[in-house]
Amino acid sequence: MEAIKANTLRCPVCAVLHLPQEENLKNGVFMGTCQSCGHFFKFRCNTGIQSSITLTINGKSYTVGSEYSGSSSLNSFLRESRISTGTKYMCREGGCGTCLVQVELYDPVSMERKSYAVNSCMVPLFSCNGWEITTIEGIDSTSEKAVPKRLAQYNGSQCGFCSPGQVMNMHALLDFHDGSVTKEMVEDAFDSVICRCTGFRSILDAMKSYAEENNQKVPDIEDVHIKRCDRTGEPCKGCCHRQSSVLALGDVQWFKPTSVDELVKVIQQNKGKNYKLVFGNTGYGVYIELGQWNYDVLIDLREVQEMYGIDFDPTIVLGANLSLTQLTDVLYRGSNEPQFGYFKEMCKILSNVATSSVRNLGTWAGNLMLKHQHPEFQSDVYTMLETIGAQLNIVVNGETKIIPISQFLSQDMTDNVIVAMFLNSIPDSHHIRIYKVNKRNQNAHSDINAGMNFDIDVNQNYQVKSKPTIVFGGISKTFVHATKTEEFLVGKALGDPSTLKGALTMLAQEVVPDDSDPVLTSASFRKNVAMGLFYRFVLDVVGNKAASPFRSGALPLARPLSSGQQSYDTKPIEWPLTEPMTKVEAINQASGRAVYINDIAGQPGECYAEFILSTEANAKIQSIDASAASTVPGFLKFIAAKDIPGVNNISPPPIPSEEVLASDKVEFYNQPIGIIVAENSGAAGSAARKVKVTYTDIQPPILTMEEAIAKNSIFPKVADEFKLGDAEGAIAKSAVKVTGRIKCGTQYHMSMETQISICNPTEDGFEVYSSTQWVDGTQKAIAMVLGVPDSSITVSVRRLGGAYGSKITRNFPVAAACALAANAVKRPVRLNVDFHVNMKMLGKRFPWMADYTIGLSSDGMLEGVKMTYYSDCGISPADNSLAGFAIGMDNAYYCPNWHVIPVALKTNTPANTACRSPGSCPTIFIMESMMEHCAKVLGKDPTDVKTLNLYKKGQLTPSKMPLTYCNIRELTSQLLTSVDYENRKQQVTSFNQANRWKKKGLSVVPMKFGIGWTTANYTAFVAIHGYDGSVSITHGGIECGQGINTKVMQVCASTFGIPMDLIKVKPTDSLTTANSVTTGGSITSELCCKAVLHCCEALNERIAPVRQKIPTKPWKDVIFQCFSENIDLSERYWQVPNTPYLFEYNSYGVTLTEVTLDILTGQHIIDRVDMLFDCGESMNPEIDIGQCEGAFVMGLGYFLQEEIKYEQKTGQQLTDDTWEYKVPLAKDIPVDFRINLLKNAPNPLGVLRAKACGEPPLCMSCSALFAIKHAVEAFRKDIGKDTYFALDAPATVEKVQQSCMVDPTQFIIQ
Ligand SMILES: Cc1cc2nc3c(=O)[nH]c(=O)nc-3n(C[C@H](O)[C@H](O)[C@H](O)COP(=O)(O)OP(=O)(O)OC[C@H]3O[C@@H](n4cnc5c(N)ncnc54)[C@H](O)[C@@H]3O)c2cc1C
Ligand code: FES
Ligand code: FES
Repeated sequence: MEAIKANTLRCPVCAVLHLPQEENLKNGVFMGTCQSCGHFFKFRCNTGIQSSITLTINGKSYTVGSEYSGSSSLNSFLRESRISTGTKYMCREGGCGTCLVQVELYDPVSMERKSYAVNSCMVPLFSCNGWEITTIEGIDSTSEKAVPKRLAQYNGSQCGFCSPGQVMNMHALLDFHDGSVTKEMVEDAFDSVICRCTGFRSILDAMKSYAEENNQKVPDIEDVHIKRCDRTGEPCKGCCHRQSSVLALGDVQWFKPTSVDELVKVIQQNKGKNYKLVFGNTGYGVYIELGQWNYDVLIDLREVQEMYGIDFDPTIVLGANLSLTQLTDVLYRGSNEPQFGYFKEMCKILSNVATSSVRNLGTWAGNLMLKHQHPEFQSDVYTMLETIGAQLNIVVNGETKIIPISQFLSQDMTDNVIVAMFLNSIPDSHHIRIYKVNKRNQNAHSDINAGMNFDIDVNQNYQVKSKPTIVFGGISKTFVHATKTEEFLVGKALGDPSTLKGALTMLAQEVVPDDSDPVLTSASFRKNVAMGLFYRFVLDVVGNKAASPFRSGALPLARPLSSGQQSYDTKPIEWPLTEPMTKVEAINQASGRAVYINDIAGQPGECYAEFILSTEANAKIQSIDASAASTVPGFLKFIAAKDIPGVNNISPPPIPSEEVLASDKVEFYNQPIGIIVAENSGAAGSAARKVKVTYTDIQPPILTMEEAIAKNSIFPKVADEFKLGDAEGAIAKSAVKVTGRIKCGTQYHMSMETQISICNPTEDGFEVYSSTQWVDGTQKAIAMVLGVPDSSITVSVRRLGGAYGSKITRNFPVAAACALAANAVKRPVRLNVDFHVNMKMLGKRFPWMADYTIGLSSDGMLEGVKMTYYSDCGISPADNSLAGFAIGMDNAYYCPNWHVIPVALKTNTPANTACRSPGSCPTIFIMESMMEHCAKVLGKDPTDVKTLNLYKKGQLTPSKMPLTYCNIRELTSQLLTSVDYENRKQQVTSFNQANRWKKKGLSVVPMKFGIGWTTANYTAFVAIHGYDGSVSITHGGIECGQGINTKVMQVCASTFGIPMDLIKVKPTDSLTTANSVTTGGSITSELCCKAVLHCCEALNERIAPVRQKIPTKPWKDVIFQCFSENIDLSERYWQVPNTPYLFEYNSYGVTLTEVTLDILTGQHIIDRVDMLFDCGESMNPEIDIGQCEGAFVMGLGYFLQEEIKYEQKTGQQLTDDTWEYKVPLAKDIPVDFRINLLKNAPNPLGVLRAKACGEPPLCMSCSALFAIKHAVEAFRKDIGKDTYFALDAPATVEKVQQSCMVDPTQFIIQ
């Protein structure tokens, strides 16, 4: 009998390998029959072999075995088993945080189990043996201190999809710190969960309300427990009483060794096999091939106790199993010890690696191994350890070896393990700094990082005493040390200007960034910043020896704690109208009880669909071969364009037609060309990957607007040219002429719930749950592809997990594909689009570009504007807003002469679509850029030029709408006074004069936003239930976080005079609210309120006679009496617009933004934002403030951060993940965020005197871009290059730094 190889058993007769299952084991002896030859065999086995694990979730124990795949994640287990549907997921790569749960993990510092928030999507299910897990369902949601309740009370939940993640993050933080946290701790921890709706201020306020200042004990090194062995006195190796185990599942084996010796043995046994060591398993968030599903054998390091070791005496030894959080904790505690002050620098950089929840899971050793496997990885941990000269304890071929970190990358690590690191004391004469420059303040990989470690003799003009360390990450695969510069600097005095000059010359030769990866920032940016960081270090070392203005370059930006202020009017007499009240669904959302489409339990027999996507962007389909796919177990059906029973068109008329599946030609990379239906999502995915598609006539894709113009790739007749007066004549006569071009890019909506559809066949058609903002549109799209009457399709939506325009038409292909699949297999089908597919396959915000000529009087009055503006439609102009652009592009400024030429460009990218404020956001940005340009040419303060041209009451807009109620002048002057603009401007000027390398900028953006009701029909249906007087409402709007349900309830409660809790709002569906248009354009809330108001008023009239008869009786009795008298207690109203102008009314606002810019890196902090917004008589100021904040922050992402890149040759989208695409996080928002709703401002034209607010505030966030531009201008003034430049959006860190025109010759100290 062959001895067990610990993981597999070889049959002694036929030599076939078997995985031992637990049921075959008795008293350590395996007994079983060979599955191949039937031979019965027995053997003794020394290792505990299991086929299941046991974990505790919310206090209940679960045993899980091979009914789950060995590569399952904790998240899929929680959701599929329906133990926790409150735990969500979106990205499944650690980047969004919607999946956070709380886990009790071993903390080697306290030697106790402590609570950590972790990303359940990254935790392999089978590493959870013995774990205690708490999900959103397992926590208190009712008591005063309950986190869900607190989040809801602070209005921290809009669409609510992120809310369980936010709650679990805080819950774990509180548990970890026994309920005692500071505001700083809270703000630092809120880097894990994206919220696309709220703008974070309300979430931070809710969570900071737990902070008790000053009661935090500063931890120190004494509190680190170093457990010593009773026998040997050595630090505990943890292997005395533990038992290793092997977990054998159908497809994967999990080894759980408990000591390094066992680990080495397991590795030896699995040599040559497809195995992986696993600790946090977060590495696959960076390199997808590390996903546990790609391995046959997984070796779990969590039980290897020695690798948690922490020792301080005589050297510092830190085990490889310390998570990044635990490592930071240990270093922080040691940082006050003499000669270990450099730990503070390590802590700073570590706390900016990934997110707090990823740091809770991932180890420093795993991070180093990513660098080893991918030398191009911009590992902050590697740069840090290289800077401070750590040593590594590694096991090589079973032998322990200590190597300096500098040898690590060249060390063969095949079958080897990192066990620990050693750190040495470093004399305080060493100056150590570690820098990170990235796209976003939190959770963003370094574009470039750097570390410098110099032994300095301060008394010898800052002489470099020995060979220093200068390390850069993000330059290239091979570049680590600036060796020549290091050598050059030995013995040189940093206080001597010639040293700096010489070092920079040397550095310029050495630092040669690799420019081959198009997704990375440019080589010129990285080189410039690398040089700037070295200069920063020198300035820091020489301190006051540097001339005063240059000292501002010595330190990176430091962001203070953020805060917010809100002011608004409310009229208690009208309550519940105008009452600042929490959204009715907020507590359900925050406690995980709110049901989103993917939380709906599957019907019996439900199967899954998946798209097959093209891998060419501009080609003809030659053949599609799905034969290999059909061999995948669980495969059910392949559907191509030819299989569509109806028409291959998903656009309800009159929208231009669009194929659901490409029939002949593909026009963008990742266009859907087929659908796979399978028994489960895993099989659907595997089968989809096996479909082979060939192409002919492959043409280069057109990807940019410039290329489209050059190739005349234009959709004809999309919008008409617009003329008012004689723009050309006026410009010709103008004293000042300004000509230029400005561009703004695209934006991925990043709704946290991706597109999804569930389609259940019924006896009369199909019942559909779909992520749509337009129920009728989805119904029509499905009916068209199936070739059935619209009435066969019933679409229902309770809520969306974010939308922002992405679910108006971009849901159609998904809903239609899902219905095609359900029709093909005659079973219920679910199509939940994977986040990456969602990003690549579906269109985004339209990019824009304008070429303009402006005529001005010498004092700056606008006289004529001629412009051609281009909109990048992708492959279809269906959702474009060019027509509205032509007449709405004036923003808040009067000009008598306009000539506007719209051009719809066709590129080989997905059909673009509406995105929160699709027309006004680019229009206002373009107009503001033009005003900025005018001011520059005139040599005036842009605020003065803008103020001069603001509309006056009664003037006509280009669309001839009289501005009878225009208050933009009053708003602007009120804001400028309240923010003390003139003084602030003076302070900024003084700051800029005093500081060369940090600059401040201020910008004021006024706004007029047309609210159009044209073509906006919404149905509402109100039913009063005769028995108890409670009320049910359904309306044609879709609740996607904007609080529409709460507002209609307020209107209903106020009109009937009943309490809110008597009213319920039911899901929107295609029957009760038939023929309603899409939810969008900021108007749906108010128009649904209007429709509900009409219903309630009509019902009031009907009820009135009974009320008069029994005036003292309560509502319930009055209603019962009506019911008894056969009075119809239901009412329906169809809202039809009746507007003489394109816009019903205008919304006005003005925003001032102040920023500080770090010139050397291009990074910024938004110091303060003051928004004054006219919301009329806000129906619910709490909700409306939330809309203002959320919209503004989404706009900050658009104008400053979010960038989509394509591979130029193939047209493949490169930024299709959370690793590269960066929406704002909690530390990107204004440090001081003040939102003021204009007081005493009833809107005579609106519904119940209110004004819309979902989109307008977003349009003012370009003020941050202009404030940054002014900061750049201040620097360019210093260097004599203060010429006009266009700052296109997004003004990313890279773009801003490059517009500063920083040249290393400017890097001087005197
Ligand atoms: C969303 C996100 C953001 C991130 N941001 C940053 C960032 O800003 N900066 C940055 O530097 N990094 C960043 N990372 C990387 C992160 O730090 C690493 O994923 C993490 O440290 C890896 O540790 P782990 O324990 O999860 O490793 P695992 O994923 O478990 O393993 C990674 C690799 O290391 C091997 N391995 C693990 N432990 C050992 C060992 N002891 N000996 C030998 N091999 C071993 C594994 O076999 C595997 O090949 C980010 C990751 C994510 C998911
Ligand atoms: S789903 Fe886990 S982090 Fe996004
Ligand atoms: S409430 Fe946070 S994503 Fe919608």
